[in-house]
Amino acid sequence: MTDPRVVMTVAAVILTLCSAPASAADPTSELVARGKYVFGAAGGCACHTPPEALGLNAGGMKFELLFGVVYSGNITPDPETGIGRWTDAQVTNAIRRGERPDGSRLFPIHPYEYFATIADDEARALVAYLKSVRPIRSSVPARSLRIPTPTIRVGPAPKEAPRGGPERGEYLAGGAAHCADCHTPRRFNGSQDAAKFLAGGPGPEGSLPANITPHLETGIGRWTEAQIARFLRTGVKPSGQEAFSLMRVVIKGTSAGYKDLTEADAAAIARYLKTVPAIENRVR
Ligand code: HEC
Repeated sequence: MTDPRVVMTVAAVILTLCSAPASAADPTSELVARGKYVFGAAGGCACHTPPEALGLNAGGMKFELLFGVVYSGNITPDPETGIGRWTDAQVTNAIRRGERPDGSRLFPIHPYEYFATIADDEARALVAYLKSVRPIRSSVPARSLRIPTPTIRVGPAPKEAPRGGPERGEYLAGGAAHCADCHTPRRFNGSQDAAKFLAGGPGPEGSLPANITPHLETGIGRWTEAQIARFLRTGVKPSGQEAFSLMRVVIKGTSAGYKDLTEADAAAIARYLKTVPAIENRVR
């Protein structure tokens, strides 16, 4: 007969092994945590969790465009209605290149124009996070477009994200955080008006994004770097006014948002904004 003390000891060891909390050194939980941070830097991918969604990332936000209607996808790990059956490479391709596994293309309202520069290491983390959240079975209506899906040409992504320095601010603003997606106005054909880079004007969803170039009268040239960084993390402007409209959405985010940016990253974005050309453009 087996000595009961041995059984107890073995059971205790197994219990300890199974219930050991995922430590900070656990590579998977570290990757998922880093992915959640990237997700927050992308404004919590808020278009995928509209107020009426069944839960985080369940999709279904309706975009009425000049040429038809598209809906944000279900990006939960549900195998039937979400991305559960997609490989990591397929999810990454959809995020960065707007390509679906079936060969169809995402409408560029999904900002792959910016997400294309999310580095391999941060993209890997982001996908790990997306696959870690609760799967939700929820079908999104099919899109109906009267024109072929426009394609935006994007370059290859860097291998590793800059961890600090001035490159970090530009990397975040121009990549995951996609500031220009809202703050650079578009021409009639949907392309961005480079002459008004970050200078504000009519934006998505009938919004009116501000001029965030350092122009003194019409931009945010009078804000200090610290004030810009504070705004990104708190939504409070130097005037005391709170962020509103889509800016409030991306700061608040979903499970994470700009509000979760580290002080260093918010400061890096602020420093970068001070380096872009000041453009005179009165938005309001
Ligand atoms: C989803 C669209 C969207 C994205 C993405 C976005 N913004 Fe905004 N932003 C807005 C809108 C709309 C406003 C106007 C509402 C407001 O002032 O609160 C705004 C306002 C601002 C303001 C306030 C300016 C002022 O004069 O009051 C700042 C600063 C700003 N954004 C910076 C940024 C930065 C930096 C990023 C990227 C890290 C960014 N925004 C990304 C939509 C967006």
